[in-house]
Parts: sequence; C-alpha cells; structure tokens
Amino acid sequence: MSHRVTLAGVAEFTTADGQSILDAALRANRWIPHNCSQGTCGTCRFRVLEGFVDHRDSLEDVLPQADRATGFALACRSTPLTDVRGELLGTVATTTPRHRLRDLEGRVSHRELVARETLRLVIDLDEPLDFDAGQYVELHIPGSPLRRAYSIANPPSQDGSIELHVRLTPGGLATERWIFASLAVGERVRMQGPLGSFRLTEPEEGPVVLVAGGTGLAPLKAMVLHAIEHDLADDIHLYHGGRRDEDLYDQELFRSLEGPGFRYVPVLSEQRWVGATGMVTDAVAADFLTCRGMSGYICGPPPMVAAAVHTFKKRRMRPARIFREEFTPAP
Ligand code: FES
Repeated sequence: MSHRVTLAGVAEFTTADGQSILDAALRANRWIPHNCSQGTCGTCRFRVLEGFVDHRDSLEDVLPQADRATGFALACRSTPLTDVRGELLGTVATTTPRHRLRDLEGRVSHRELVARETLRLVIDLDEPLDFDAGQYVELHIPGSPLRRAYSIANPPSQDGSIELHVRLTPGGLATERWIFASLAVGERVRMQGPLGSFRLTEPEEGPVVLVAGGTGLAPLKAMVLHAIEHDLADDIHLYHGGRRDEDLYDQELFRSLEGPGFRYVPVLSEQRWVGATGMVTDAVAADFLTCRGMSGYICGPPPMVAAAVHTFKKRRMRPARIFREEFTPAP
C-alpha cells in the first residue's frame, strides 16, 4: 500500500508497498542525507512527528529502542505503515539531488585482480549514468533480496560504464560467494544508483588532501580524476595506505599524473620499502604541520577514517571541510 511522506523542508513524496523512505525520496528527486543506505551509519536518522513506520531490520546499535520510542527512525530502513509527517535532524541542506536514483543494468566488460584479494570490475551500462565523483551504486546479489554498495572509481565524464574495486570479504555473500566465485566478463548485473553524500563537485579554494585505505581508493580516484579534468583544485595530495606492496594498485596511473598540482603518496604499514612506511595518517601528519584552509576527503575502514579525522582536526582543518566515507564489510 502506498503512503504519503512529508518531511519538513524536503517536501512530499509517496512510498510504494515495502519501499524505504530513503529510496522513495531519492527516486522522487528529494534529498535526504545518507551514506551507507544499509542501516549502519545513522546519517539518515529522522524524527517521526505523526504516523507510524516499520523499522524493519534497523540495528539496535544504530537505532536503540529508546530512540525508536521517542520517534526516531532510519530513512534507509523504515517503511511507512501510515501516512507520515517527520523532520530531518540538524542543519540539513535540503536541496534537490543532482541525480535521481534509478535502476540500472549492464554487462561486465573487464575483470582483473589488481591487488591482494582485490578485483577491478568494469560494467558497461545499458544507458549512461549521471553521478557525482565519490558516489556509489548498489549491486543486486543474484538469487537474494540483498544489495551491496560499491563506490564508482571512474570520473563522471565516463558515463557509459562504471569501474568498481571489490575487496574480498571472507565468507561474504556478495564477494566470496558471487563476485570472486563466478561473476565473469559478459555477465549481466542489476544495480541501482547513484547514491551517497560523499562527493566532490565544487571548486576547492585551498589544498585538498585525500586519504584512502585499501579499496577506499575507489571514490577518491574518481574525485582526483574529476578534479584534474575540471580544474577544481590547484593543489591535490592523494595518500593511499596498504599493509604490503601487494595491497597497492593504480600506482602507475597516479605516478603519471604527478606534477605541479598533484602529489601521490602510497604508504605501507607492514613493510619497509622505498616509499613511506607506517600508518597512512602518520604520513599525512608528517607532511603537514597545519591543515588550516585545506579540505580533507577520507575513505576506508572505520579505524583509519577515525584516525584521519583526528589528524586533520589536530592539524586545524575546519570540521566542516572534512568529508568521510567508511567502508564496513557486509557479510
Ligand atoms: Fe541510513 Fe546509513 S543508516 S544511510
């Protein structure tokens, strides 16, 4: 059964039977801040003022029962049981999304092991996709109602295909049991996108420091290529951290881009080599005595993201200029 949802400042939209509030909003070109769309980050929390929602599989850690009792809900998990009136939390830029969420299909045209337990997939899309550098798509897992999120690693100018970097999750339903086990060149894939608030779209006034851990490189690669193509920043520094050299990839590409305006720093935490050694965040801290006037974009596992945020803040980067996306492996 469909229901009307009215969120203050976001305007009204309608949900179809079983459709999440976030999905309905983004498909109607209404913006609700979100990051994971999987119920793990809490970015899409809102407060129900009138009506009722089904919280479905919302996690207790992200949305405790006490919060549900006072009206809080996750837009990416909840479905309305009645018409709903609610409000988003905090200061929210309630702008129209730049790109409407939609269903996509394509065919795998490239599959390559680029690093330890890391695949590069390229999927040629049936129709071009408009997206912002940094956003992601969700792949439908065949034979399952579940989807998994993967950041788009190519810049938006290459809109006919998407490049994804997939790290093996041991026992993972999407990675070990599907993508690594059997997904081959020529096979068709169903997806939806674009999703996510992590994006680089505006010209940057000061230096930009991007810090990636593992396949957290994917959205930052899209941002670097997009920024260089469109002259969005004069001074870009990309740090890519891994444990050993078999964890790094795309080094040749980034080396070829080095020059005035772009610096590439690969960092290994468990191996001495000709390059930087240690935690990627320590390399950033060693290179910048102050990050005043800079912007930071971070993507990787949660501990690395937290460490990078800490480093940027310690170096006096304005919190409003720190943008982050955490990769949490899904089973
Ligand atoms: Fe809803 Fe992350 S919890 S977007």
